[in-house]
Amino acid sequence: MKKIFGLIVLFFLVDINAGNLCCSYPCQNNGVCLTKGFKDYECDCTRTDFYGKNCETLRSNLIDIPPPYDNDHSYITLGAHFNHSFYTRVLPPVPEECPTPMGVAGKEELPDINALVKKLFVREKFKPDPIGTSVLFSFMAQHFSHMFLKTDFKRGPQYQWGGHGVGQTIKIVIEDYVQHLSNYNFKLMFKPDLLFGENFQYQARASVEFNHLYYWHPLMPDEFIIGDTNYTMRDILVNPGLVIKHGMTTFVDSLSKQSAGAFTVKNHGAITLPVVQKLIQNGRTLRLQSYNNYRKRFNLQPYKSFEELTGNKKLAKVLEDLYGDIDTVEFYVGLISEKRRPRGMFSEGLLEIGAPMSIKGVMSNPLCSPKYWKPSTFGGDVGFEIVNTATLKKLFCQNMRGDCPEVSFKVPGFVEQKRTDDDCTEHEEL
Ligand code: HEM
Ligand SMILES: *[C@@H]1O[C@H](CO)[C@@H](O)[C@H](O)[C@H]1NC(C)=O
Ligand SMILES: *[C@@H]1O[C@H](CO)[C@@H](O)[C@H](O)[C@H]1NC(C)=O
Repeated sequence: MKKIFGLIVLFFLVDINAGNLCCSYPCQNNGVCLTKGFKDYECDCTRTDFYGKNCETLRSNLIDIPPPYDNDHSYITLGAHFNHSFYTRVLPPVPEECPTPMGVAGKEELPDINALVKKLFVREKFKPDPIGTSVLFSFMAQHFSHMFLKTDFKRGPQYQWGGHGVGQTIKIVIEDYVQHLSNYNFKLMFKPDLLFGENFQYQARASVEFNHLYYWHPLMPDEFIIGDTNYTMRDILVNPGLVIKHGMTTFVDSLSKQSAGAFTVKNHGAITLPVVQKLIQNGRTLRLQSYNNYRKRFNLQPYKSFEELTGNKKLAKVLEDLYGDIDTVEFYVGLISEKRRPRGMFSEGLLEIGAPMSIKGVMSNPLCSPKYWKPSTFGGDVGFEIVNTATLKKLFCQNMRGDCPEVSFKVPGFVEQKRTDDDCTEHEEL
């Protein structure tokens, strides 16, 4: 009798709690709990890098291991996993012999590439990055991306050479670089041990979509102010001696203080126009699926109109004239013409598609695995401490003589303009 009474009390208690399930704090990893009716709750995992009912699943798991697709097959092959000279793919190619280049939607031909370049990419006036990103960041992005994205262009856009190693800079990549580009309000931390015990495999393959997504050429300005001298892009490209001439300190200081370009339409400098032209061509050779299909693959809503994609009437009109149908917008064009996320460098799509690829790549370094993530791997406690406390600033300043210069991914003193969700200033000047 006593037992039954106890059970009744227990049920009663559970029922009271069911009134507001958020009282038990079910949302993990900074997810926000919202009540849903009387008996349910919902976790808003937006921009937490996690998803699932309780924001419990790391987005890195959105990337398949083993990788299923390659460029030659519209079905899953083992070769996609084992053939390391070949990029893997997140989505299979658009099947051959479809009514239209993207399947069934849209016109029989994709827009002329020269028209695309002229209308969407040519920089008429430099547009600075809206969150104050510095040119030091642009160089870091270029350098870092080339550690794992190397195409054998002579053989074709599907061929890769080089490996996927990331090396000792992983802490800096997460805590300085990804922290900056995501512009999260909370602090990102590099803690490989959080993955121990998770269903996580320490391997990754770069995908051809990741390669395309990382073409951030608009981040490069047309001129560089080093010390008091104004250099053009061409001066810089062929002239590593400039670093010696001005000294590392002045060089880094100058790059930290100059604003990078915004990743947006009409912001490719003249020197990178042939690069984006070839990129679009490669996307077609690889038969990449539409941007909307990639959004769906990463649990995002496909866009229903050009205006919804861009948040800008003028740009929407330009895209509509080129593509006709929102479901035929190409991968890179979608990434760069999508409206910017509030307070971010990039659009929602670029971040939500890029983040799992990037996290998977960085965290699956063998150094992060339970087997190796310990002091002895780094020569003892001193070495482990160096890795665990690495910062961008230290990396530079402990390796150069004299005073520490400005070392920053954000231009010092930069003040972000206030912006609301539906105010998309970066697309205003077309
Ligand atoms: C200094 C200005 C830059 C120039 C002149 C430049 C030029 C180029 C060229 C010529 C290619 C090869 C394209 C092809 O053959 O189809 C390329 C590829 C690439 N660039 Fe840049 N780039 C610059 C800056 C950047 C920056 C700032 C990033 C930032 C992430 C970046 C990311 C990439 C990536 C990811 C690739 C593909 C690499 C590969 O697949 O092997 N580049 N760039
Ligand atoms: C890897 O894939 C490419 C493209 O299908 C093919 O040409 C190459 O022979 C493959 N390599 C091996 C070792 O199977
Ligand atoms: C640098 O020189 C270019 C012309 O070569 C000029 O258009 C630009 O305004 C100059 N920038 C600065 C900051 O002086």
